[in-house]
Amino acid sequence: MKTEINNKLQDIVSLAKRRGFIFPGSEIYGGLGGTFDYGPMGVILKNNVKQSWWQKFVAGRTDMFGIDAAILMNAKVWQASGHAEGFNDPLVECKKCHHRFRADHVSGDKCPDCGGELTEPRQFNMMFGTEVGPVVDSSSKTYLRPETAQGMFVNFKNVIDTMHPKLPFGLAQIGKAFRNEITPKDFIFRSREFEQMEIEYFVRPEDWEKNFLYWKDEMLEWMMEIGLDMNSVYEKEVVDLAHYSKRTVDFEFDYPFGRQELYGLAYRPDFDLKNHSRASGVSLEYLDSETNEKFYPHCIEPSFGVDRTVLALLISNYAEDDLGGEKRIFLKFKPSIAPVKVAVFPLLKNKPDLVTKAKEVFAAVKSEIPAALFDDNGNIGKRYRRQDEIGTPFCVTIDFDTLTDDTVTVRDRDTGKQERVKAADLISYIKEKIS
Ligand code: GAP
Repeated sequence: MKTEINNKLQDIVSLAKRRGFIFPGSEIYGGLGGTFDYGPMGVILKNNVKQSWWQKFVAGRTDMFGIDAAILMNAKVWQASGHAEGFNDPLVECKKCHHRFRADHVSGDKCPDCGGELTEPRQFNMMFGTEVGPVVDSSSKTYLRPETAQGMFVNFKNVIDTMHPKLPFGLAQIGKAFRNEITPKDFIFRSREFEQMEIEYFVRPEDWEKNFLYWKDEMLEWMMEIGLDMNSVYEKEVVDLAHYSKRTVDFEFDYPFGRQELYGLAYRPDFDLKNHSRASGVSLEYLDSETNEKFYPHCIEPSFGVDRTVLALLISNYAEDDLGGEKRIFLKFKPSIAPVKVAVFPLLKNKPDLVTKAKEVFAAVKSEIPAALFDDNGNIGKRYRRQDEIGTPFCVTIDFDTLTDDTVTVRDRDTGKQERVKAADLISYIKEKIS
């Protein structure tokens, strides 16, 4: 069973590398633990995820305001937020090989790597420290943000003063977060540098519960929209709550290495606005212009990991079958998420007439469907295999018939079936299929 599980993750890791989705970070220098680099296909996939999220939760609504705060923030932010004190994992260290493990990840008092004796658990702060400016002293110390959330709380007043929103309203941000994870593992599931898509949705204190349930449904709806396997998604009421939360529901996903967190939805009451008001001396209260009432709104926080979304999408859409007597691997991405929507090939690359016509068709397609790709590498079978493995829903081939009757073949990724379509109708045909 274990081997089967590891094989599935291994298959995905090797597909991701082979097809330009995800590479190990700093690979030519032997890598850097817990870091990954997205390649040409991965960056498009990731951007499609972020765009879909932004469209649904920010651009497509009237009660949401986007921000893009700095990754480096004043160290006082992390004191007020509780991260300087509370963002700790208990850690044990092997006295023999000095490998470190999260205390809750090992059972017993012997090292899982060498069998040596483990120390008692010690607290380990997961924030990456750094120095700002040329002089190194206590005032230059700060941290790379471990969550994007605080950038929104500290800009609460700026947004109120500039946009004058009425409750309920939310701030949203997509950006990098950094955590010095003790045991980064399972490919991009737990890394030290990752991206978050977070919402801080501010409500009247008495309205928190209905908004919590509303956002739970919104999160599920988006997961369905992007094409996650919903049979692998589970809701879990969190018992061991983070220092800021009064209620948290995690969405867990069945990864090949077990059921683990995908996203979180937290009710953070007024913890952050109150603490930042106290620590900064700047009031982050909300003034209701109709009743003149001043109070701290409460906050509902839907938090999504971009990289865990990418991983869950790869797992949900990874498929193998037999097509024309040959085993093949394909990614059955929804067209909206697929990095390439349509690939155009000349049947043979050494026939100038075919290549010229294929380039002409490709230019027309690309001007209307930008996520189009021209491919004349290797033979047609190899091109189909490559496009299947990056999840391209449609491949268009220009063959000898095209030169006489101006039709092309369109191959469907999932069925492998080919249809002849008039070149003049091709763009509307593809657009309809991918919409
Ligand atoms: N602002 C709340 C917050 O940061 P979290 O549960 O610690 O909550 C939110 O993180 C999401 O960020 C997680 O659900 C996960 O998707 C992602 N995430 C957290 N740590 C991660 C890591 N080390 N590697 C990849 N993604 C991570």
